[in-house]
Amino acid sequence: MRLLAVCAAVIILPMSAAAGAAEGKPVYDKSCRTCHGPEGQGNAVIAKMLKVELRHLGSPEVQAKSDDELKNIIVKGSGKMAPVANVKGKALDDVVAFVRTLKK
Ligand code: HEC
Repeated sequence: MRLLAVCAAVIILPMSAAAGAAEGKPVYDKSCRTCHGPEGQGNAVIAKMLKVELRHLGSPEVQAKSDDELKNIIVKGSGKMAPVANVKGKALDDVVAFVRTLKK
């Protein structure tokens, strides 16, 4: 029985992360994509306008941040990025899960 529970956890946990990422994509497309590009590569026009270097969201530097750090950036903003006000709760978890899928 115990073994079964462990197996279930091993199978179900990654599946729920994948589901989160799938649900995070529309959130990303709506709230992040204009500036960060469809694959997280960064929108060159926005970068030029803000005079900032937009690092690829899949880069090792960004991916090295913890989920909480990423959430902080989204909720509180960071440098020239303004806080993204409408992303919170489950949408916040989901969009972070999606950002993880951009890893290069
Ligand atoms: C209006 C444009 C804009 C929107 C919308 C936006 N960002 Fe950003 N983001 C930026 C800019 C500009 C920076 C760079 C800030 C700086 O370095 O001064 C940045 C930085 C970041 C960073 C840090 C990258 C690094 O190099 O450390 C992360 C992570 C990030 N954004 C994620 C997101 C996510 C996720 C969303 C959507 C929920 C989002 N951003 C929405 C403009 C935006």
